[in-house]
Amino acid sequence: MIATAIADSNRRSIRTHGPQAQIRTSNVANVAIIGAQWGDEGKGKIVDLFTHDADVIVRFQGGNNAGHTLVVDGEKTVLHLVPSGALHANKLCVIGNGVVVDPGVLIEEIDALKRRGYLSEDSLLRISEEAHLIMPYHKAIDQARERLRGKGKIGTTGRGIGPAYEDKVARIGIRFVDLMEEDTFREKLKYAIEEKNIYLKAILKEKTLSFQEIYDAYGSYREKLRTYITNTGLLLDRQIKAGKKVLFEGAQGTLLDVDHGTYPFVTSSNTVTGGVCTGTGIGPQHLHHIIGVSKAYTTRVGSGPFPTELSGPEGEKLKAEGAEFGATTGRPRRCGWLDAVGVRYAVRVNGITGIALTKLDVLTGFKKVRVATAYRCDGEIYHDFPSSQRAMERAQPVLEEMDGWDTPLSEVRRFSDLPANAQKYVRHLEEILETKIILVSVGPGREQTVLLENPFYS
Ligand code: IMP
Repeated sequence: MIATAIADSNRRSIRTHGPQAQIRTSNVANVAIIGAQWGDEGKGKIVDLFTHDADVIVRFQGGNNAGHTLVVDGEKTVLHLVPSGALHANKLCVIGNGVVVDPGVLIEEIDALKRRGYLSEDSLLRISEEAHLIMPYHKAIDQARERLRGKGKIGTTGRGIGPAYEDKVARIGIRFVDLMEEDTFREKLKYAIEEKNIYLKAILKEKTLSFQEIYDAYGSYREKLRTYITNTGLLLDRQIKAGKKVLFEGAQGTLLDVDHGTYPFVTSSNTVTGGVCTGTGIGPQHLHHIIGVSKAYTTRVGSGPFPTELSGPEGEKLKAEGAEFGATTGRPRRCGWLDAVGVRYAVRVNGITGIALTKLDVLTGFKKVRVATAYRCDGEIYHDFPSSQRAMERAQPVLEEMDGWDTPLSEVRRFSDLPANAQKYVRHLEEILETKIILVSVGPGREQTVLLENPFYS
């Protein structure tokens, strides 16, 4: 219960803005952790921290495009599919129906965790029978399309995420429940492969794929994963009714949401809180706190608008100090000042009840720190996030400037021990973002945390 202890020692009265706790059916809280930017906000660490207080940890969208980095006792682990709760003993980890799963990658991840003593019992991991499979043709299509798009590419992770979600919506996807029934799988794969091979060959000018090779490989995945596959919607309902505390672990971020993000430069799932319900099969009344995770600055991987991007030495400094390289693809992340327009928008569309502010330590050494509070575009000021792709591409940030600080933060554990200007920065962000900040992270380690409020106990 380290987290709770830290919370008690730091508790201070923070003005409460924005939406508050929703309908509570018992005194047990369920919490969602959602990215409030373009992904890579440091959600892995925040999920890992609050896993102390949860019984069940659930992924509800995305796939192995995500890379959740956790540093425990100095050892770094990157998880792509298995919920971050796997690094704690006896936590139930669930992969919900909204996730798209590359079974080969999942098996590798499970094996690697087991080799290190995690997931000691198979019953600690449950996978939804309704989750859709990423197939080899999804990856081939994703990568070929990106090559063909050239300059206009989205900059996807190339993991087949978009094409897998396309098939789901087109009602030709293959789910785990289909894989488990050999005949159903054969039939669905036959249909899919015929169609995909025509598309790959005639349109994308790619090599075709062999039905038999895929059929055999997925047959072996079937046997390896069978033990984990179940009706996770029912399981979660039973866990909630039994008074278990559930933590829903978001992947990517709000601004990459297929409906609410910077379309078309987005991922193909609903990364926002609404995705928790559709991606797990639980009702909204079971969600009590929504933590939005935001860096103290902004990063983005892949293409798309980024109004506060810094191309000069300040951007390089953020990249170097923040070790801003993608956990999944290793690509350097684009860096810039905190885009409060985007995070405030994330507060609204997710119903965020508190922000976890990460990587504040990376801002140490900047004489001035800046925050975008609005955009300027063609003579107009936007206080709210624009939907127009054109407006977003031309948006210039309206920046507020604050004095920086020089003292390293990595040893700070109490809010009052932060340098005065860092405290001012955090407090000012609460005003701009119209919500409270419940946690400040000052380094990658679990202990490098200033916890102001624990959502499981508030
Ligand atoms: P996809 O999800 O691989 O289709 O990629 C679509 C966009 O989302 C690209 O700009 C990716 O860089 C971005 N993206 C996908 N997953 C993540 C993530 O976990 N963190 C940050 N960006 C991501």
